[in-house]
Amino acid sequence: MKLVKTVKELNESMQLLRTRGTVGFVPTMGALHKGHISLVENATCGNNVVVVSIFVNPTQFNNIDDLERYPRNLDADLNMLADSGCDLVFAPSVAEMYPVPDNRKFRFGTIETVMEGKYRPGHFNGVAQIVSKLFDTIKPDKAYFGLKDFQQLTIIKSMVKQLNLPVEIVPCSIIREKNGLAMSSRNRLLNNEETENAAIISNTLFMAKELVGKKSVKELVEWVTEKINSNPFLNVEYFEIVDDTNLQHIEHWEEDNTKVGCIAVYCGKVRLIDNIVLN
Ligand code: PAJ
Repeated sequence: MKLVKTVKELNESMQLLRTRGTVGFVPTMGALHKGHISLVENATCGNNVVVVSIFVNPTQFNNIDDLERYPRNLDADLNMLADSGCDLVFAPSVAEMYPVPDNRKFRFGTIETVMEGKYRPGHFNGVAQIVSKLFDTIKPDKAYFGLKDFQQLTIIKSMVKQLNLPVEIVPCSIIREKNGLAMSSRNRLLNNEETENAAIISNTLFMAKELVGKKSVKELVEWVTEKINSNPFLNVEYFEIVDDTNLQHIEHWEEDNTKVGCIAVYCGKVRLIDNIVLN
């Protein structure tokens, strides 16, 4: 496994690697866990070459404290990737990725004005900026994204269509801790007590799935929100039940679409997201 830190080195390595066959790409912000590794494993199954990027992208953080607190540990990340089948790691500096400010403004319409887009203004523009830059240099055949960031996946699919990019976006399942908590780099910012209580989020989503049809959509939204908020460690920012393609609220269970319950919760100062398919 090779590590490169500049775009020049990346281009040189990619020229050679591309001769081996198809390229699978996994973009990450590091602080890797088994969720990230599952993406890398999926990529190794479907491609001849696997590239992983590690870059905490400042343009997608709408909160400076969140950016500063974001966990970083390149050595630990490289150790985790060592046996994963990854061929090349790209870990650039901010100056390398943004030699000049990126002033591009992407437009995704109504899929970016809800949920994460509503509560983290500018977030998805930053995600699109960095992912489009990475796609541009790496030119992967397939790129792997976790369903954990459900809305991000929808945005990336939309970006690929808008820009006519020749890359297949592969969605990958959410990997969870034994207690159900969705794995996240931000989980390591939680103390033991917070980690235990954060498991209430996923466990409530699992219970909600059993209540579909027994409660109305509105009642279920209230039930989930109240149940999680009744825990003193947790504070729900939003819980929404949406159509999986246009991300707009659904009103009735009878609607003929896939329905996803998406949630953002503060556990202390740490913001966690999760989601569950409800049918
Ligand atoms: P990051 O949060 O590091 O996540 C990288 C990828 O890992 C994303 O596709 C995310 O959905 C996936 N992932 C995270 N936790 C997961 C879990 N528990 N199970 C399955 N997949 C999981 O998402 C980003 O970075 C950034 O926004 C990025 C796309 C790299 C652009 O900067």
